[in-house]
Amino acid sequence: AALYGSRVNSAGVEFGHAEELSRLMDDLKKAGLPTAPARAIVGGEARPGTRREIVSPIDGRTVAGVVEDADEATADVAMAAAKAGFSAWAATPAATRAEAIRKASDLLEARRGLFLNLLQVEAGKTLDDAVADLREAVDFCRYYARQAERLFGEGTVMPGPTGEENRLVLRGRGPFVAISPWNFPLAIFLGQVTAALVAGNSVVAKPAEQTPVIAFEAVKLLHEAGVPRSALHYVPGDGRIGARLVAHPAVAGVVFTGSTEVARIINRTLAAKEGPIVPLIAETGGINAMIVDATALPEQVADDVVTSAFRSAGQRCSALRLMCVQEDVADRMIEMVVGAARELKVGDPRDPSVHVGPVIDAEAKEKLEAHIKAMKESARTHLATPGPTPGTYVGPHVFELAGPSDLKEEIFGPILHVVRYKANRLDDVIAAIDATGYGLTLGIHSRIEDTVARIVARLETGNVYVNRNIIGAVVGTQPFGGHGLSGTGPKAGGPHYLLRFATEQTVTINT
Ligand code: SER
Repeated sequence: AALYGSRVNSAGVEFGHAEELSRLMDDLKKAGLPTAPARAIVGGEARPGTRREIVSPIDGRTVAGVVEDADEATADVAMAAAKAGFSAWAATPAATRAEAIRKASDLLEARRGLFLNLLQVEAGKTLDDAVADLREAVDFCRYYARQAERLFGEGTVMPGPTGEENRLVLRGRGPFVAISPWNFPLAIFLGQVTAALVAGNSVVAKPAEQTPVIAFEAVKLLHEAGVPRSALHYVPGDGRIGARLVAHPAVAGVVFTGSTEVARIINRTLAAKEGPIVPLIAETGGINAMIVDATALPEQVADDVVTSAFRSAGQRCSALRLMCVQEDVADRMIEMVVGAARELKVGDPRDPSVHVGPVIDAEAKEKLEAHIKAMKESARTHLATPGPTPGTYVGPHVFELAGPSDLKEEIFGPILHVVRYKANRLDDVIAAIDATGYGLTLGIHSRIEDTVARIVARLETGNVYVNRNIIGAVVGTQPFGGHGLSGTGPKAGGPHYLLRFATEQTVTINT
């Protein structure tokens, strides 16, 4: 197959390099946390709202920042402003739009201290997760800028008869509503917003209510980088504000990352609306599985399972929820996974020796604890690690289920479920994974090519990882996203993503 493009991913931090690490620590220290409240920005004007402190999940005390949540009137004004701002931005050459987004990526790197502090304190990320989030944000900006130049330039000349010029051009759709999650509060927020913008749409961005401050800083940075204030508006608030934005008659598209349930609500709202048919770009969750057969290398499996299930406290939509292990090797594999998971340090993510930071808030912790309680009653407990207090911590857990269908929903935290399968029942496992209806990530650990090929052919999962971990899709390398209950199939960080944000126009000129 042809190789697509070349790699241009942003540089990481070599944590083992003392000088590099101390430069990073200096940047964090110097930057501190923002002091001004995160207010709605509509047409470049700040609009006051209802004041709310964002208390860090790290300790339940430290204030990451203050947000002023917008009301419905502000949401309406923002939509009207995005409608008014659309045509000028859409008419701006793609190269100019791309330049602004590229400038933003440079500013992000230059101001990494502030963003990394917020990723840690507002979202509770470990330093390497924070760095990964920032890098992904930078990568999205640069990747989409490049794709926009490729796709939105002069258009494509189509073959036709002499005396006629046929050209296919891509254009922005109009005002886009971008509703983003708290688990990648910078990368996914900016991924959505910059994809929509660079494709020529105006945007109203509504970040997750847990992480509005980092989104506010990102919006100000985009304005500074050259995105017109008439093209990008910021409206913080809870689900009611998202609902209000989506229901607005001016909406031309919605990009959403979050739960399947909310994606359905958005779909229903869009369907019930008067006016044009509005597309939804949704990336939702998954009951992500990994199939481990008897030919897999145990040390590698342990490492990859622990990374996939427990890194980022399991709060990635790509994270591993269900390990299906061949019976013959199950005891040994489980023992090794549990042994490796026991080594993980749970606690304050600002401590560089910590592997598992807090879950996002008390509500998330309560939900996970209820699941843990139910599992302790109905499943076999291999590992139960309590989380420290204060703060909203949940340690790694491993439960063994009788069969894959015992896991009924996505559990968004550091909880791994394990099932055993008999060598001659692999097809049942594949069918059970298929029957979840999700299709986001899938892991396969096997040294038998036929087995790998058989599983890949049977499951339509969006991202399949063979003999490695299943998280951390790299922009431009592993276009990321699933379908079915996992979303509408867009591949963030892939060459076709921007097409979802565009309309196509054929212009035929009789010369
Ligand atoms: N893009 C992220 C990952 O691959 C999604 O959670 O881990």
